[in-house]
Formats: sequence, structure tokens, C-alpha cells
Amino acid sequence: MNLKNIIQQDIKNALIKIDHKEYEPIIILNKKVQLGHYQLNNLIKLSNMLNLNPHALSEIIILNIEKKSRYKKITFSQPGFINIFIDEKWISKQLEKIFISSRLGINRSKSQNIVIDYSSPNIAKEMHIGHLRSTIIGDVMARILDFLGHNVIRANHIGDWGTQFGMLIAYLEDKKLKHDNLSLAQLEKFYCKAKKKYDIDNFFAEKSRECVVKLQNGDRNCFSIWKKIVSITMLENYKIYKKLNVTLKENHTMGESVYNKMLPDIVNDLKNKKIAMEINGSTVVFLKEFKNRSGESMGVVIQKKDKGFLYSTTDIACFKYRYQQLHANRIIYYTDSRQHQHLMQAWTIAKKANYISPNLLLEHHMFGMMLSKNKRPFKTRNGDTIKLSALLDEAVERAIRLIKNKKTNLSKRKVIQLANIIGISAVKYADLSKNRNTNYVFDWDKMLSFEGNTAPYIQYAYTRIISILKKSAISINKLKEEIILKKESEINLAIKILEFEEIILLISQKGTPHILCKYLYQLATSFSNFYENCSILFCKKIQNRKSRLKLSILTAKTLKKGLNILGIQVTKKM
Ligand code: ARG
Repeated sequence: MNLKNIIQQDIKNALIKIDHKEYEPIIILNKKVQLGHYQLNNLIKLSNMLNLNPHALSEIIILNIEKKSRYKKITFSQPGFINIFIDEKWISKQLEKIFISSRLGINRSKSQNIVIDYSSPNIAKEMHIGHLRSTIIGDVMARILDFLGHNVIRANHIGDWGTQFGMLIAYLEDKKLKHDNLSLAQLEKFYCKAKKKYDIDNFFAEKSRECVVKLQNGDRNCFSIWKKIVSITMLENYKIYKKLNVTLKENHTMGESVYNKMLPDIVNDLKNKKIAMEINGSTVVFLKEFKNRSGESMGVVIQKKDKGFLYSTTDIACFKYRYQQLHANRIIYYTDSRQHQHLMQAWTIAKKANYISPNLLLEHHMFGMMLSKNKRPFKTRNGDTIKLSALLDEAVERAIRLIKNKKTNLSKRKVIQLANIIGISAVKYADLSKNRNTNYVFDWDKMLSFEGNTAPYIQYAYTRIISILKKSAISINKLKEEIILKKESEINLAIKILEFEEIILLISQKGTPHILCKYLYQLATSFSNFYENCSILFCKKIQNRKSRLKLSILTAKTLKKGLNILGIQVTKKM
């Protein structure tokens, strides 16, 4: 139930009745309930347009609002607001619907095919902290769209093709290295060495290029080494996904190699359509939509002189595949802002060539960087990029220390289990709770704190409710009576619970999990406020006690679902 939407629609209908259907009412949730639960925020604009005073206009609007039964009162306040007070009985009825629903009352949307391109690490390299944001923000989006009933196609566009594999294969062959039991760290080291050798050793460079050609032509030996390199890398990556509680599985891997066979045809086709042209042996598409520094149309190379294809060529083919084969209605990319121009160019070319329909929605959900406390890029002491696995190990170690400091009597195994949940959740939540469009400072102490908008705070709030419910010893099916909303903190909590759907729908459009984090934090604090002001277990009237237990159950369910969407686990005890 999307309360904000309902109010917005009621006001819109009132405006249609008075012939102002072009006006979009802006409704916001009020921080101070004394001023109404919700508020119409742009009355002044309309009153200026109509040359009417805001108060007079508000009276006309209020008079024309139908479905008055859901509103307790609707008032005007200076200088130009309409304050909307929702009727408690109506709220209570909505809560009942959510209470018995397995989906917290949230309907499935009209299903679309949505491709989410996320995580997408490169092969023969360990994942580093730069991959964290793409992996976890993309996964939240996949979970939300799944929940809303869409056909979500998770696409892990791994970098598993290109000349670098020629070098690596040549290097392994050269050194007679058995590739069967290599670790990823070793592979990465060899990869760096191979790159250096390529630049100084002509003979090796020639051999590398031969390997690329052989690989392209499906040579058995080269192909099997390549497969091994990919599988060694992905095996490690899946360990990280599992640790991160991310839903990416093997069948979601659709790397660059998938599109390789399409590339020669794409280049020919673009040439035939006069979209691409040959210049000094390379094939280039000039785009007037993008200008270089001297104001000329920018050229995107799609085939090099040596006939090699590029990252852009693959993404053009990938658009075609996702639209024509996967029938995507919407494609969302999670990569940092540096790839924006590249994606937009590939998209423009795919549109020009009619590979995709102009109606296909393309969204690039970019994100900023992780910074250290001195506001510089977050790196190791030696200035190297931090490996994701090292970061996650440190998170768990820190959580172990945190638990031990609390002097628990948990077994060693339980401590480790709990530390895994607390540590990893803290890292994820710290990231997800920041607006993805900005950089953020990575701060261990803050993210592991039990105060503020952190994972431990929300997880703890959940365990507290669970323990209250346990103490009550009333089974859910005995809670038949309706919810009674009297005290302000009760009503506030109820309205917060109702807000969940609005939040979920908003994120499904914008891909901004921080809004959900903020919401869960507010929900947890609303509960704590309610708990301080309304006695639950010791409430004398059984009817009130049951009603408050129901509100507690609804809060717990919403917190759990919200955390689940963030890919964050809950525990019954903390
Ligand atoms: N592998 C790339 C990287 O690590 C990200 C790929 C993003 N997806 C795409 N279709 N280009 O930067």
C-alpha cells in the first residue's frame, strides 16, 4: 500500500475536478505529526499561477477531495501548506491487510525483463574494493525487482576475453607452468609479469599474439588453459559472493567471451550501414553526439589495425544480444562513473544500427569511490589497491574482537558464526547506506557501532523485538483483535510501517539503497520510541497488549524484509 501515492491521487482528483489536471501535487511525510502526517508542499506555486491566495485555494481543494473517510482532518497552515491527518481506524485497517499478507501487502508489478549488469570483475585478477559497490548495490536492485515480480536477468559481465589472455597463456606455456593447481594470487602475479615481458620481448609478444589467434580459432590447448584461468578466478569470486551474501551464481556469468562470435558481423554490418568507416586500417564510428576537446565528433574505434576488437565492440554486441535474444525492456548497469561515456557511446551506436529499440530503457547507476579517513582513495599502506577478500577478513576479525569484548559465553564456533554476520553486514550496510552518487569515507569504528544508522543497530533492534515476542508467549494466530492506535508513538510507528511499499517502489526506479537504509533506521527508532512510551508486555488491557504485539510483529517483519532486500542477515540473538 503506497500511502503517499494514494494521497497524491486524491489531491490530483480534486484538482481535476476544478480543472487543473496539469498540476502535479508534491506530498511529503511530515517530521512533526502535530502538523499532520503528510503535507502538500507546492500549494504556493499553484496559487501564484492562478493568482489566488493560498488559503482560499486550499479551501477549494479540500472541499473537492473525495474518499474523506481515510482522513481525520485536512487543514491549511501558513504560508501555504495543506496538512493531512490520516484517520487511525483507516490506518489500522491497512495494517491488518499487511499483517495477514506474506508480501507485507506489496503487490507484484507488471512484469518486465530487466537485465542487471553488475559485479563484472576481470579474469586473472583478484576482486578489489572497487568491485564492492557494483556487486552489492546491483544485488539489492536484483532482489527488489525480483520481489516485485519482474523477470530479473542477472548479468555478470566478466572481463574474460582479449589480448591479455594471449599473454597469460604464452607465459604459462613458456615457463612450463602447470595450470591445474594454480591459485588466483599466483595467476595475477604471472599476469603482471607477462604484461611486462610483452612490452620488452618481441619474440614473446609475437607468441602472445599467436596464442590470441589460436584462442579465437578454438585451438583445443589454448582454449582449455583459458577455461582453467577463468574457472580458477571465478571459484575465488564465488567464495566472495557467498561471504557477501550476494545472489550471483554460475549461471549468471555472461562475460565478454559470450559476444566474441558476434563481433566480425557487427563490424561488417556497421560498415555496410555507413555508420562505421575505415581510417588508416582501423574501423571507427564517428558520433556527432559526443565532441572531443577541439569540438569535433568523437571517434569510437571498434576494430584495431591488427584486427583486434575492443571493449566498445563487445558492449555494442551485448546491447544487441540483450535486446534481441533476452528481450530486455530495461538494462541497468552498475559501474563507476568513469565508464559512463563508454556506455553511452555503445548505446548510441546500437541505436543507430537499429540493434535496439529507442524504447529500451538504459540506466547507468553510477557510484563514487571509497575513501580513507584522510579523504584519499582507500588503499593499503604501500599504496596498493585493497583486495576485497582481505577487507572482508578484517571485518570478521574486528567483529570477533567486538563480541569477545562483550564477554559472551558463546562457544568459539558460535562467535565465528555471529562475527561473520556482524562483520560482513557492517561493511555492506556502511556502503549501502551512503548515497551511491557520492564518495564516502570508509570508517571501521562507525560501521561497527551499535549506535546510529548502522547494521548492528538495526540488527539489534530486530533481536530485541524478537525477544519481546518470545516473552509474550502469545501465538500469532491468537492475535485476532484489531490494532488500536491511540498514542502518538503508536500512530507514528504505524505510519512508518505503511511507508515501506513507497520506499521499495522508489528504489526500484532509482537504484538507491541508501533510502531503504534510512527508512529502516527510522523504523527502528520509531519502534524504540513506541517501546518507551507504550508498555507492551505489562499492559493491563489485554486488547491493547495484543494490539501492541501485532505492531511489534509488523515492525519485525518489515525490518527483516528490508534487511533481506539489502542482502543482510538477521540473527535471533546478538
Ligand atoms: N569488467 C569491467 C570492469 O571491471 C566492468 C564491466 C561492466 N559491464 C559492461 N557491460 N561493460 O571495469
